[in-house]
Amino acid sequence: MSTERAASILVVEDDEAMRDLLAEELEDAGFDVEATGGASSGLERARARRFDLIITDLRMPEMDGFDLIRGVMAMPEPPHLVMITAFGSIETAIRAVKLGAYDYITKPFEIEELLLVADKALGERSLRSKVARLQREVEERFGLGNIIAKSQSMRDVIAMVQRIASSTASVLVTGESGTGKELIARAIHYNSTRTNGPFVGVNLAAVPEGLIESELFGHKKGAFTDARADRNGLFVEADGGTIFLDEIGELALPLQAKLLRVLQEHEVRPLGATKNQRVDVRVVAATNKKLEEMLADGSFREDLYYRLNVILIDLPPLRSRPEDIVPLAEHVLENLGARQHPPRRMRLSPEAQQLLLAYHWPGNVRELMNVLERGVALCQGELIADDDLPPQVREKRPSDFLGAAVARRMTLAELEREFIERVLEDEAGNKTRAAQRLGLDRKTLYRKLDEYAKASGVPTRPSAPSTEGE
Ligand SMILES: Nc1ncnc2c1ncn2[C@@H]1O[C@H](COP(=O)(O)OP(=O)(O)OP(=O)(O)O)[C@@H](O)[C@H]1O
Ligand SMILES: [Mg+2]
Repeated sequence: MSTERAASILVVEDDEAMRDLLAEELEDAGFDVEATGGASSGLERARARRFDLIITDLRMPEMDGFDLIRGVMAMPEPPHLVMITAFGSIETAIRAVKLGAYDYITKPFEIEELLLVADKALGERSLRSKVARLQREVEERFGLGNIIAKSQSMRDVIAMVQRIASSTASVLVTGESGTGKELIARAIHYNSTRTNGPFVGVNLAAVPEGLIESELFGHKKGAFTDARADRNGLFVEADGGTIFLDEIGELALPLQAKLLRVLQEHEVRPLGATKNQRVDVRVVAATNKKLEEMLADGSFREDLYYRLNVILIDLPPLRSRPEDIVPLAEHVLENLGARQHPPRRMRLSPEAQQLLLAYHWPGNVRELMNVLERGVALCQGELIADDDLPPQVREKRPSDFLGAAVARRMTLAELEREFIERVLEDEAGNKTRAAQRLGLDRKTLYRKLDEYAKASGVPTRPSAPSTEGE
């Protein structure tokens, strides 16, 4: 494993000749080495600087190596420790390892032996910290905190994901395109007890039909013309974790039968193999097809459907949960803005917000993300205005108007006022015709308009009700 910077090693050894020798050899091997003659000074150095590895003698005057181990192990994310022990003192070595030392080496030793142990310790540590970092990153990304769920329907989805975390039951995630099916599938995995196992995703619509079986279940060398070596299938790769079968509605009937068998028996048989292989895999499947309709016309097996559908998570389309639109937009803008050079704190103008709320989002969250990405690209400053939005969003379609009103938390009176003013506008200010359209008598309309004018502090025009608008 090559790293840009040399790994740093602290050598703690009271015997000066030995200490110099070790330091020299390790430096020659390309390490960045510091050396010190006592356990307490060693601990001081270790606290002052992050070493990748500490190599220490056990028996030293003043403070012994055990105290050093204890002190190092008490540090956050301690480096690996390799002990140098005297010949014949296996008990001390065991004690050191129990205290947290990574390994030990017995005097006298060849320098090659020490380099080997150091390499192993460093390799494992860098791998371990790399894995830990990736794991943290991925958990953060697919953690529930990063899923926007303001609406009750999405809050129910999140609650469900949490509830099923420890179960191994299969999950079927349905929903229109772009509603977040894959995101939820990952969230299920990363919030489950399998989070340290693999998450393996496959889009069944993207794999040619003839290759799906070998892709999922593997093959033996020679099972077919192109099978030049044994190959594990994705089920085996996902062992101990989760397999995500995306676009399950695209799976052909013969393969549906094979998949069903795997789900029932928890065993796969690679193509050309004579024995089954046990796998412990949780299945999350997703589709934007109406599987019930496919059951009815015989293109999806009922038994497989019930196997997959132990837990159903149906993601609501964005248009039916307008409360999520602005929070999602803000979340996306924050991420997009942070990626700009220099970073920008993107905001939406009130008009742009209204347009987003009124639009019907056939492409759901993905479409919202695309619209915002385009908006950020077009917009000069930090405020996305209505004309930074694409034509389909700007063209006010009477989509889920009430949904938008709910999202804006309008009262009935506010809704009434807005409706009356719109109709009046549409009738070019003609109050008689507006009243007719609204099913109000003219007096009532005048009274309401008066109230609105007062409420907004605009003095009412001195007008004679009987002649106005005629
Ligand atoms: N509630 C949410 N909070 C934050 N981001 C979301 C949310 N829902 C969806 N997204 C984001 O929207 C995008 C589309 O989601 P995803 O790919 O999971 O949808 P999908 O249902 O699998 O779509 P398709 O059917 O097209 O495959 C992703 O970038 C995802 O991270
Ligand atoms: Mg998807």
